[in-house]
Amino acid sequence: MKFFVDTADVAAIRELNDLGMVDGVTTNPSLILKSGRDIIEVTKEICDLVEGPVSAEVVAKDAADMIREGKLLAAIAPNIAVKVPLTWDGLKACKALSSEGHMVNVTLCFSAAQAILAAKAGATFISPFIGRLDDINLDGIELIAQIREIYDNYDWSTEILAASIRSVNHITDAARIGADVITAPPAVIKAMAQHVLTDKGLQQFDADWAKTGQKIG
Ligand code: G3P
Repeated sequence: MKFFVDTADVAAIRELNDLGMVDGVTTNPSLILKSGRDIIEVTKEICDLVEGPVSAEVVAKDAADMIREGKLLAAIAPNIAVKVPLTWDGLKACKALSSEGHMVNVTLCFSAAQAILAAKAGATFISPFIGRLDDINLDGIELIAQIREIYDNYDWSTEILAASIRSVNHITDAARIGADVITAPPAVIKAMAQHVLTDKGLQQFDADWAKTGQKIG
């Protein structure tokens, strides 16, 4: 499973990238706002840092303008994946941009039917939003399972990119079901290292070590 980081915070990306944990990055207009940076500048900086796909999202609503914006974003670096929303116009833009050889991430997917259309339109990635489905008492992980089943039925190559990840359990559940990629905020990725029994075990080792009176080196 590939690990994408869902942020435009360059320092946070660098820390994880230095650990070899970053296979790509996803951004969106909300994350650009949070970064306080210019979209072109910060996206270029991220593309220089990370080898894998870096998703940058269009904001236009009609296909022609999405395609125009998508080409501008794709010109930032070869590893840009143009992110388009799962609307009818977004699917048109997906088809046009993917036919020209650009990677396309179709975002804001909330149903298996939408995911079928994205695959048919040539999407490189489909981004089902797990957390936002859970927010309205639907089952985000179940959607990932449905899309996995459908894509496997037909050997479709569109990669399932589990997005809107809010918890460590979302990541392990998505991995068990076979999501190709997860994208998660840096804090959630770092939280994967935490376990109460690890902390408790360390406390015990520290206490016992102090009693030995020894030092290493
Ligand atoms: O990748 C999409 C993601 O950023 C949305 O996350 O937490 O705003 O639903 P969230």
